Amino acid sequence: MAYRFLVDFVNRLVAWDGWRGRIMATVMARGNADMEIAAVELVNPKTDANVVMIGCGPGVGVVAGARRTPNGMVIGLDPSALMVGRTRTRCRKAQVEHITRIEQAAAESLPVPDHSQDAVVSVNNIQLWNDRAIGLDECVRVLAPGGEIVVLLHTWAIPDAVPDDEWVQQLCADLSARDVSVEPPETRWFLSGRAVVLVGRSVK
Ligand SMILES: C[S@@+](CC[C@H](N)C(=O)[O-])C[C@H]1O[C@@H](n2cnc3c(N)ncnc32)[C@H](O)[C@@H]1O
Repeated sequence: MAYRFLVDFVNRLVAWDGWRGRIMATVMARGNADMEIAAVELVNPKTDANVVMIGCGPGVGVVAGARRTPNGMVIGLDPSALMVGRTRTRCRKAQVEHITRIEQAAAESLPVPDHSQDAVVSVNNIQLWNDRAIGLDECVRVLAPGGEIVVLLHTWAIPDAVPDDEWVQQLCADLSARDVSVEPPETRWFLSGRAVVLVGRSVK
């Protein structure tokens, strides 16, 4: 209950559309770029891989992913129309439009076929999902057998209602319960602060 309250509060405080969204998109494109790129490096996709990036924001990771998968496809999803627009523009400028698909969608309803993705990536948005259980179900639904899930999140964005370690352990348990084998969580420093780094693999 407290967690839901905090999520609602953050969602109201930080807008991802409108003038505040424009500021956030510009800030995130610079400040979170190293995290988005690190997530793609963790996936280490094959050149023909299919990768979906949830909550892609201004699209730095989508472009980084597409450059690694010239014979594959990177799907960038975000519920914010503004972020979708920013990501499409970034992909056009980077000339990776033909190997990317950018759509307005939230984690809880991924417009992606079952078992079609080699990797699912979420950077700095899992704390914003309105229903984490449904979002995780969706991630697992779209993953191909053996596919990877990579989650990065600033430790300062972990909801206050729960101690950080407990929150991370619960996320690991939620993934394990969905037949995802999770590597021991790490924390790493990035330009914008310390972040939890989780890597799991679907064992279905
Ligand atoms: C802090 S930004 C992170 C953007 C980018 N991944 C980064 O690290 O720069 C959070 C993003 O999550 C998106 N978001 C909010 N609710 C979401 C949900 N339920 N599912 C997926 N993304 C969501 C927002 O629109 C926003 O673009």
